Amino acid sequence: MHLQIGHRVIDLGCGSGTDTILLAEFVGPTGKVIGVDTDNQMIITANKKAKEAGVADRVIHKHYDAMSLPFDSDYFDACHTERLFQHVLNAENVLSEMVRITRPGGWIVAADSDHSTLSIDNSVTDVEWRMRRFRTDKFRSGYAGRQLYRLFKQQNLADITVEIFPFFSTDYTLTRYFSLLDEAEREAIAAGIITKEELRRWHADLEQADEDSVFFASFTMILVAGRKNSVSPHAGDLIF
Ligand SMILES: C[S@@+](CC[C@H](N)C(=O)[O-])C[C@H]1O[C@@H](n2cnc3c(N)ncnc32)[C@H](O)[C@@H]1O
Repeated sequence: MHLQIGHRVIDLGCGSGTDTILLAEFVGPTGKVIGVDTDNQMIITANKKAKEAGVADRVIHKHYDAMSLPFDSDYFDACHTERLFQHVLNAENVLSEMVRITRPGGWIVAADSDHSTLSIDNSVTDVEWRMRRFRTDKFRSGYAGRQLYRLFKQQNLADITVEIFPFFSTDYTLTRYFSLLDEAEREAIAAGIITKEELRRWHADLEQADEDSVFFASFTMILVAGRKNSVSPHAGDLIF
């Protein structure tokens, strides 16, 4: 985000303020961090956490929809979002709002999941493939991470960079929890994607791997950053 002391920044889909409170340090006491989320409970928790962290004077969280933000154009020095696009139907709209509210030359940073990258070592891969697709399609935009580069290009952002964040887990229980597997499996059975017998084989396989201490899963997140261009009113040059 190329943050400097005194910058005004925004985090869309801020959740309970995990990132906004960290951002406070980078913009200093003269800066401002605004977190935006549609979940009221998250906003209450985030504002409480900002108070406890002693940064409530510069970090504020608001109940706004990222699809339509009540801020003037070019208002922020930098704009950030993490795992929001996977939850929205129209990521183009959100990114175009991010571009609108960021000043020319300011950085826009988005990190998101590509749920099709959830890969679990197992011997019933046919079940795994169907579960992967079903689970990915459960999100409004389960492929959000891999779409970011295209979306940034389509917004004519400059100096685009991409970073990939690979994760792995050897903890079966934790992996089930973080990937919401219980819910996905329940819904996959109800939707006829897998049978009860296939679920039984899938569970037996994963439980055996866990018992043998060889359980392994991996997952990838993608982060894309780019700068808002501005066109010179005189020569049509790009200025930053
Ligand atoms: C996976 S969480 C990301 C949380 C946050 N980035 C963090 O590090 O804790 C996604 C968040 O986006 C919020 N959200 C979903 N749709 C939204 C929208 N249209 N506008 C603003 N926030 C939204 C959800 O309420 C949720 O808190």
